[in-house]
Amino acid sequence: MNVLVVGKGGREHTLAWALRQSALVKDLYAAPGNPGIAALGKCVDIAPEDAPGIAGFARENGIDLVVVGPDGALEAGVVDAVESLGIRAFGPTRAAAEIEWSKVFSKQMMQEEGIPTAAFAVFSDVDAARAYVIEQGVPIVIKADGLAAGKGALVCRTAEEAMKALDVVMTDRMFGDAGRNVVVEAFMEGEEASVFALTDGERVLPLVPSQDHKPIHDGDSGPNTGGMGAYAPAPVIDEGAMRDILERIIEPAVRGMKTRGRPFRGVLYCGIMMTDQGPMVVEFNSRFGDPETQVILPLLEDDFAELAVGISEGRMPDRPLTWKRKAATCVVVASGGYPGEYEKGMEICGLERLDAMDDVFAFHADTARRDGKLVTNGGRIVGVTALADDLASSIDRAYEAVDRVRFENRYFRRDIGQKGLRRMA
Ligand code: GLY
Repeated sequence: MNVLVVGKGGREHTLAWALRQSALVKDLYAAPGNPGIAALGKCVDIAPEDAPGIAGFARENGIDLVVVGPDGALEAGVVDAVESLGIRAFGPTRAAAEIEWSKVFSKQMMQEEGIPTAAFAVFSDVDAARAYVIEQGVPIVIKADGLAAGKGALVCRTAEEAMKALDVVMTDRMFGDAGRNVVVEAFMEGEEASVFALTDGERVLPLVPSQDHKPIHDGDSGPNTGGMGAYAPAPVIDEGAMRDILERIIEPAVRGMKTRGRPFRGVLYCGIMMTDQGPMVVEFNSRFGDPETQVILPLLEDDFAELAVGISEGRMPDRPLTWKRKAATCVVVASGGYPGEYEKGMEICGLERLDAMDDVFAFHADTARRDGKLVTNGGRIVGVTALADDLASSIDRAYEAVDRVRFENRYFRRDIGQKGLRRMA
């Protein structure tokens, strides 16, 4: 097969890496890709949201399968455009991806299907939203309805913060039209984890549970980022919790999407809060997580290309997935200053020193090639993943590898995976 990966981050580098492991894959392309992906295939300069451009490229270059990474590409209808030409795509249609790009649709679907999630109300009028916040009290969560680069959910601990959040989202339109409607929902207390399931629209295959680290600083302090690291398996989701999540969350969601005439094919991302009342949904996303993918796919024994084709054709294998009996940790090395202001163009050294380390991977997130040199090109630069026999060893090994990656003003969290270790202890 010739395969095209859509996207340019660490998640897409990991997808490209997983596809490259498959004997089924001949030529690999990425739109637009990054320098890490360029070592595995050919990068073409097409934006992930350019649905006609991607479909046209796929047709002209004999692509057999398009694997879509980012939410923006799904919302832009890349899968619809590709499938309309009779080409297979891994990922949901725009209508099915609404489970991520409209928080209102998603919460209403959960309510109608009896899927456990926080109590909520929807507002298009800022005064009505303010009155509801005052009536409910704090802490409270305010979510912009549409995609907001992962920044559209604001946890407000004081009434002032909540009023400011409503102003910023609904009046100032910080996230554009995503702020036309907001979901105001009860704050959930607990530990968060990411549970993914592959689905062909009917059957469901859960992936190994993982945990992201969203805040910039150790101890989960500071502003949220795209994710500063991840590990898997996450012990907070034990076998019983996983069964519960499958039966009460994932299967009803997949059925619910089908009965709404929007069968969901691809990977369903369930942001789960483990509360005193059991697992509850924080949000559904319609894609792989970043950086969770960087720890999940390296643990997968199965052929990802074979799974992706099966899912795109609505015939996912009817057997559990097989996993390496290992743990994986990914530490994201970022530009100092991220998620605020940071400089770009710093030369990155030492990535080649990771090649000599078994079961260690450097997944490029935001790198660029300038005058033959590899340089930083954004906030999150590279995700360093290490596999080992247990979580503690994979953490040690990931940090040993991170130590070899150098660029000016680099920043990384030093406590990735510690929550998992504490839980196991
Ligand atoms: N890990 C967070 C995200 O992918 O949205």
